[in-house]
Amino acid sequence: MVTILVGGQWGDEGKGKIISYLCLRDRPDIIARAGVGPNAGHTVIYKGKKYPLRLTPSGFINEKARLLIGAGVLINPDVILDEIKTLGIKERIGIDRRCGIIEEDHLTRDRKSGHLSGTIGSTGTGCGPANIDRANRSLKLACDIEPLKPYLTDVPLEINTALERGKKVIVEGSQGFGLSLFYGSYPYVTSKDTSAGMAAVDVGIGPRKIEDVIVVFKSYPSRVGAGPFPTLMTDDEAEKLGIAEYGTVTGRKRRSGHFDFEMARYSAMVNSASQIALTCLDYVDRDVRGIKSYNRLSKKAKDFVDEVEKKVGVPVTIISTGPDMEETIDLRNEKI
Ligand code: GTP
Ligand code: IMP
Ligand code: MG
Repeated sequence: MVTILVGGQWGDEGKGKIISYLCLRDRPDIIARAGVGPNAGHTVIYKGKKYPLRLTPSGFINEKARLLIGAGVLINPDVILDEIKTLGIKERIGIDRRCGIIEEDHLTRDRKSGHLSGTIGSTGTGCGPANIDRANRSLKLACDIEPLKPYLTDVPLEINTALERGKKVIVEGSQGFGLSLFYGSYPYVTSKDTSAGMAAVDVGIGPRKIEDVIVVFKSYPSRVGAGPFPTLMTDDEAEKLGIAEYGTVTGRKRRSGHFDFEMARYSAMVNSASQIALTCLDYVDRDVRGIKSYNRLSKKAKDFVDEVEKKVGVPVTIISTGPDMEETIDLRNEKI
């Protein structure tokens, strides 16, 4: 059984938090990372410790799961080797031998380009230039890099074999729908599509095998880098609501805005969402911070959940009321 989880807005919706919850709660056998590459920064907070992850699947805190990185994901060897060491996951991580490799030259081109780092506001992590080289068929792959050799594997083969044996697989995307190269606010987007279909391709799973698609929406969306934000609020308003955020990878200030129902509906449609995970409900009402049961939510918070569900047309099954993995309300047994 395969569940894909992707971001429904401009990234940083809290995918890391939701994935880590699902991976501890549902005990998948495999957790596979899809998405663009180390431009992502997922924050996992577990037992009071904070893990800012760039390439490692956010479900790594489930110590029994096999961790895989699909061929569609770009690898910066320094970043992944450092995470493997720091997190102590060398026995259970597998990197597809066809992952594209980010080298120093890609970082330089990304950071020095007035177009990418200037106009678009890229993360400077080399992803755009590496995907350019991939399309040009001049990019190195993971199988060309000596220190990665102990971790190389065939991700589609591992996943599809596990599925035949009835195992559970969770695929995690990165970035968000509004940053999709195809469906986002072009040219202010990342260097690849970011929807659930692409996440399946990234790890080598065909469309007939996907059971569930969970799209993560943040109650007050945020956006880093340039590009349109129709429901943007002023800095003052964001400060007053206490929701100002800074980027995990770049440290840049994230712009914040009100929930955009029209965008969410479109995003749920293209992703074929079967469930919504709604994060940062504590931004809607401070009093619900850390609450773990739906019945204890305030009327204001419940009304917002209902409004999202009605206007987007997809059930809200998981609600996050704080950054810690445990600050979660799980409605899946009641709604599906
Ligand atoms: P990308 O892959 O970079 O798009 O990141 P992401 O979706 O994993 O999100 P990221 O961790 O970058 O940003 C989300 C921020 O919100 C982090 O600082 C989280 O710790 C925090 N967060 C997640 N859920 C909640 C929540 O329910 N309430 C609050 N207050 N913070 C949350
Ligand atoms: P790039 O992916 O580094 O080329 O950046 C292109 C655009 O996507 C910029 O606006 C970035 O800020 C944004 N972006 C890329 N990755 C993320 C992410 O993980 N979270 C939020 N924004 C991102
Ligand atoms: Mg992030």
